[in-house]
Amino acid sequence: MLPCVMGILRAIYPGTFDPPTNGHLDLISRGSKIFDELVVAVLRNTSKGTPLFSTEERAEMLREATASFGNVTVETFEGLLVDFARMKQAGAVLRGIRAISDYEYEFQMAMMNRKLDSNLETVFMMPAEKYTYVSSRLIKGVYQLNGDISELVPPMVLKRLNEKRSASRVSLGGEAPGEV
Ligand code: PNS
Repeated sequence: MLPCVMGILRAIYPGTFDPPTNGHLDLISRGSKIFDELVVAVLRNTSKGTPLFSTEERAEMLREATASFGNVTVETFEGLLVDFARMKQAGAVLRGIRAISDYEYEFQMAMMNRKLDSNLETVFMMPAEKYTYVSSRLIKGVYQLNGDISELVPPMVLKRLNEKRSASRVSLGGEAPGEV
C-alpha cells in the first residue's frame, strides 16, 4: 500500500508546465482516476532558464484546464519536491514517461527523491500514444515558427500564446517574426 493519510491517497504531479500541453492534461486525467487527490505542482524557479509564462500564468492555465476534475488542485512550489510532498502529506509523485529517452532522467529523479524521502513513491504513467512526442519545449518552438499546435494544447493555452505574441509585437512597436 502507498502511504495514505486518513485513508486518502494524495499524489503530487510536479512540473514546469511552460506551457501546459494536452499531454500533461492526459496524464492528469489518468492520475485523477487512480489517486484520491491529485495536486498539480508548478515549479516556481526552474533551472531551464526564464520561462515564457510566469508561475501564476502557468498555474492559472492549469486551474482552468483542470476545473472539471473534482479531485485535482493546482499549487506552486519551490525548493525540494520531497519537502513540498511532505507538507501536502502526499504519498506519491506522479510522472509521465513518453519514451525510453525520458527514462534515464526520470529514473535518476525518482531515485534521488527516494534517497531524500524513502516514504515517497514515484508512480510513472504513460500518456496516450498521440501525445508521446509532445513537450512544452517543442510546442514553443513550433508555435514560434507559426506551426499549427491547436490539437496539442488546450484552446486557452493557444489564446495565451497568441496574447503573448501580440503583446511582444506591440511592445516592440511592429512585427516581430518568430517572437512569442
Ligand atoms: O516538467 P519538468 O520540468 O521535467 O519537471 C521537473 C521537476 C519540477 C519535477 C523537477 O525539476 C523537480 O522536482 N524540481 C524540484 C527540485 C528538486 O526536488 N530536486 C531534486 C529531485 S531530482
